[in-house]
Amino acid sequence: MTEAPALLELTGVSKRFGRITVADNLSLSFRAAEMVGIVGPNGAGKSTLFAMIAGDVTPDAGELRFDGRSVIRLDPAARCRMGIARTYQVPRPFENMTVFENLLVAAFRGGQVPRQSGFALAANLLEETGLSQDANRPAGRLGLLQRKRLELARGLATQPRVLLLDEVAGGLTDPEVAQLVAIVDQVRRRGVAVVWVEHVVHALTSAVSRLICLAGGRLIAEGTPDDVLANPEVKEVYLGADYGAEADWGKGVGD
Ligand SMILES: Nc1ncnc2c1ncn2[C@@H]1O[C@H](COP(=O)(O)OP(=O)(O)O)[C@@H](O)[C@H]1O
Ligand SMILES: [Mg+2]
Repeated sequence: MTEAPALLELTGVSKRFGRITVADNLSLSFRAAEMVGIVGPNGAGKSTLFAMIAGDVTPDAGELRFDGRSVIRLDPAARCRMGIARTYQVPRPFENMTVFENLLVAAFRGGQVPRQSGFALAANLLEETGLSQDANRPAGRLGLLQRKRLELARGLATQPRVLLLDEVAGGLTDPEVAQLVAIVDQVRRRGVAVVWVEHVVHALTSAVSRLICLAGGRLIAEGTPDDVLANPEVKEVYLGADYGAEADWGKGVGD
């Protein structure tokens, strides 16, 4: 069986901030309709990887191809219109706009959809992401779960082909995480490549078919979630990290 060609492909991507290496010759590829998890300790370079894919940060070296075409010189807006959407670790809605208005902006700006279908798209997304009750509330008044949902919905409103999720499950309860996973998996089934960064490992393991572990900008391990989490080097970067490793490591891992 031949594998589907990569939708998003990074080759030899490197980035330093001063003396800190945040991406060290990274080569990664992602296919349509797959969900890939990225884990790694704080400062591993996960958010910066997304910033480079979305065009917010320019790599020092390397190539980035989307749908067979180099996008390395395109600005974030152009990449978004092509179908690359990222969410932010700290949600960034327009605080004074309502939830519905936030989705319309994303649909019209990012997705470039015609007026009528933009409204329909936003309305469907309210439903799909569990935001219907909050449609007319200013985004700034939402609680954490709804803010995370809105961040996801804004990404979806741009009609992405690649969706980069940065810690959308952080701070949520297990049932809330399960709801979010179900929503995202539906999106994946429609053919979207989902790349999901999460610091809380157990949130991802059931959802993804492939897991990548980064540390210090380096690819430490890549494979099935079970294989990656059993990897001694992966255990070491987590357990050796200077934050509450056990809480972050989550359930069912390393037992
Ligand atoms: N714009 C920036 N300028 C300087 N340093 C940065 C910048 N963005 C991130 N860093 C640093 O790069 C490292 C990796 O950050 P980040 O990609 O946010 O890691 P992660 O998301 O894995 O926690 C950290 O040490 C962080 O402080
Ligand atoms: Mg981060």
